[in-house]
Amino acid sequence: MNERMAAFRARLGGFAFGGDYNPEQWDRRVWDEDVALMRRAGVNLVTLGVFAWASLEPEPGRFTFEWLDEAMDLLHANGISVDLATPTAAPPVWLSHGHPEVLPVMADGETFGFGNRLHFDPVSPRYRHHAAQITGALAQRYSHHPALAMWHIGNEYGPTAYTPQSAVAFRDWLRRRYGDLSALNDAWYTRFWGQRYTAWEQIDPPAVPRTWSNPARRLDFKRFVSDALLECFVLERDIVRSYRDDIPVVTNFMRFYQHADYWKWARAEDAVALDIYPDPGDDDAHVAAALNFDLMRSLRGESWLLMEQAASAVSQWRVNNVKRPGRMRLGSYQAIAHGADSVLFFQWRASRGGHERFHSAMLPHSGTASRTWSEVEALGNELPLLGAAAGTSGTAHVALLFDWDAWWGLELTYGLPRNDFDYTRLATEHYRPLLQAQYAVDLVSFDSSLAAYTVVVVPNAYLVSDRCAEALARFVEDGGTLVCSYFSGVVDPANQVRQPAYPGAFRRLIGAYIDEYWPARGDETFELTFADGTVAASDWWQESIHPETATVLARYTGGFLAGRPAILDHRLGAGRVVYLGTRLEQTALRDTLLGAVRDAGVAPVVDGAPAHVEAVRRGEFLFLLNHSDSDAAEVRVPAGVDLLTGERVGGSAVLAPLAVRVIEEIR
Ligand code: GAL
Repeated sequence: MNERMAAFRARLGGFAFGGDYNPEQWDRRVWDEDVALMRRAGVNLVTLGVFAWASLEPEPGRFTFEWLDEAMDLLHANGISVDLATPTAAPPVWLSHGHPEVLPVMADGETFGFGNRLHFDPVSPRYRHHAAQITGALAQRYSHHPALAMWHIGNEYGPTAYTPQSAVAFRDWLRRRYGDLSALNDAWYTRFWGQRYTAWEQIDPPAVPRTWSNPARRLDFKRFVSDALLECFVLERDIVRSYRDDIPVVTNFMRFYQHADYWKWARAEDAVALDIYPDPGDDDAHVAAALNFDLMRSLRGESWLLMEQAASAVSQWRVNNVKRPGRMRLGSYQAIAHGADSVLFFQWRASRGGHERFHSAMLPHSGTASRTWSEVEALGNELPLLGAAAGTSGTAHVALLFDWDAWWGLELTYGLPRNDFDYTRLATEHYRPLLQAQYAVDLVSFDSSLAAYTVVVVPNAYLVSDRCAEALARFVEDGGTLVCSYFSGVVDPANQVRQPAYPGAFRRLIGAYIDEYWPARGDETFELTFADGTVAASDWWQESIHPETATVLARYTGGFLAGRPAILDHRLGAGRVVYLGTRLEQTALRDTLLGAVRDAGVAPVVDGAPAHVEAVRRGEFLFLLNHSDSDAAEVRVPAGVDLLTGERVGGSAVLAPLAVRVIEEIR
């Protein structure tokens, strides 16, 4: 945690609790009720002004800060700190209409016009100019306001534009990456289909919404867009820092968000902050949520901020289910268990109109006479009991590779043996058994150090960098265990098949070569038998594997590849690689993965707990969460005190359905 965040934490003195506050939507007299109820609910931080550009600068250069002055003063007088947003995610109509070149053009050629939000081309000089102006004006006015605790830049950065100015910026980005055109032609393998470029000006964004374009060009465009958006963040960050340098600056990330490489973004911020809306209609949603939380913690290797969640239902899906009683509390503690130092919501008071008028809020339309309010108020008053756990983090001995380059390569560049890979689903499949067996897991990128880990899990890393391939080889040779699944190590960062194939980068690592990838036909399933006689099933994918130095852990017992290897075990140096050449059904994947983890000597956070119990450690604090709404669970725990009840525990603890226990260990 850097000094800015340490100061922020000291100021709040525990967990932050609150949410987006949009007083500009309400008459002034409502504000007094707002702050009175905020105090009642234990709110200590609100995010102000996220979409307020039109209310702050109704005409170019004319600022109307009076209402914001009053809101900041009122909040401060009530002991509530402010995470002040730059409103640049919602450019006002005078900018969109006066300068239509700020609007993004989508891949299909349609202009994304005014009337929504995020209607800006991130590389538009005009957009950036006006974004810088409102940011500077805000910073000048509020940098030293006593309520200011944090800067919130923009909101959920995301637009991609296929405009002429985007083409110019893309070419500049490519020039910086490749230096000269022949290097680009080589990297993009433009000798195929005669695509050789002879001048930079000939290169355009891959706008045509067809899948048959150059795969290296598509990949570079994704990288470029992530960088272009990051430039917008950095532009505003540097402006607010130029007025005052000791206030943390963040923006809000999204769950499994493909358009921004968050490993890179996290380094540009003072803390990672996440917006997450697990579907209350999906009983399994907490698994992917846990993975996202672990990713957020891993991005900077420290605690992070839960910037937005829903108090109950959202409004953007076809059917918006409510969070049943106890679910909002459980989900909030789940985020905390995985390292969040805040529980913040979108939003404080439900909007009467606009697209999100049915989105839940801390204070719903029915006011305090509502279940949601009661649960929010109870949580806000309970959180201070855990204050000592804020800022702490745990240690994991298992790491799971999650990298945006690997993601983009697998899903967005097409022309693969099958083109329906779902990277986040595959990562979640590999993560689930670890979560449900109560193992602590960190996420790692191509550039992460692996020194702290005993086991590394690599789900479907079709594209890997040389650095990553070398780091994994060293990790195994030095005694680590690697579990790697099919179609990994195949191409280099330019999306070219590594020679000799396959799996080029990992051939030595897995101790085998593959001469053909065999996607399944339709619903085809495959039977396989492990060396110990266990029979299992797989589907979706097979490979024609030829072991070189590996031994065979399981073979197909039917179909065209009958008798051929499906799963390999390879001893390399002092370590081991388990290679899964097919998509194992859940139980077999669980047993294989957990078997490798156990063999490597890694212990779970608690022993023998059922799969619906999540156990996560933050320093001395053990979080136990029961995700079942029908089954209680008994869990073996160390001697300690349950911070939520004050009760002394030891030996075993009972968790009622949906219960949370936070045990401070006594050593
Ligand atoms: C977030 C966004 C909020 C609100 C919320 C609804 O993505 O930042 O402004 O729209 O979703 O769930």
